[in-house]
Amino acid sequence: MNLALLDRAAPLFDRDRAALAPLVRDGVLDLLGDAFTPTFTQRTLDTAASAWLYDRTRDALMPRFGLPDFASESQAVAERLALAPGAIVLDVACGHGNFSADLAKRVGPNGLVVGLDIAGSMLHRAAARIRSQGLENVLLVRGDALALPFRPAVFDAVNCSGGLHQMPDLARALGEMARVAKPGAHFAASGFARSGAEESGLRGWLWRRFALHFIPVAALERAIEAAGFEDTRTQIEGSTFAYASARRPEAA
Ligand SMILES: C[S@@+](CC[C@H](N)C(=O)[O-])C[C@H]1O[C@@H](n2cnc3c(N)ncnc32)[C@H](O)[C@@H]1O
Repeated sequence: MNLALLDRAAPLFDRDRAALAPLVRDGVLDLLGDAFTPTFTQRTLDTAASAWLYDRTRDALMPRFGLPDFASESQAVAERLALAPGAIVLDVACGHGNFSADLAKRVGPNGLVVGLDIAGSMLHRAAARIRSQGLENVLLVRGDALALPFRPAVFDAVNCSGGLHQMPDLARALGEMARVAKPGAHFAASGFARSGAEESGLRGWLWRRFALHFIPVAALERAIEAAGFEDTRTQIEGSTFAYASARRPEAA
């Protein structure tokens, strides 16, 4: 990561630049260190092997399970984020950096994308992706979506693709995303969701435990509004996938 990028991004953070610089390692700003206890699912995705497997198979497997291919999903997300060149975008649960890289190309060199994830192994792959694509406007951060390390109202757009179903506390994660979004900023999410009610009993517990938790869209809409967004819309694709979008209210 070049230091000019850290200089550009520093005003977004809830701490001084001087405190950030020593935490950059291998292209990732690590704000968690060892001070984080992952859930079972978070730990499962945070190994070199699982991150490699995810990176290698995601795009091929999605269409096979009736889910959108990456080109369609990233286009749908970008439209919902209403991106303008130069926008400052947060990509929560960025994983191996597929959306972060795509968003960075869309906002151009004057824009900035911050990709945030808790899994060092996924971020390691994201850093390789960003380097190999020659992108200089993506800052990768190891942080927790439940306690975002940013000042309030600093992002023009906030995305969370493939991540909401993994949040141990969805309301808190959405509340954090709303807190860091500027007035009028667009929010988008894509991932496992479905119509109907939450799966209950042992089956529901197992789904959640293994992060194959299909969030009921009605509950997701309520959670997005309760977090402080408005104009919430969802669109179900197939039986286990949905897009969501919303906006932060303009300042009064
Ligand atoms: C299925 S991957 C999605 C990666 C990428 N956005 C995509 O759509 O392909 C889910 C990601 O959510 C991350 N994640 C889970 N809980 C998180 C949290 N509390 N804060 C930040 N990231 C989290 C995981 O580490 C994982 O990389």
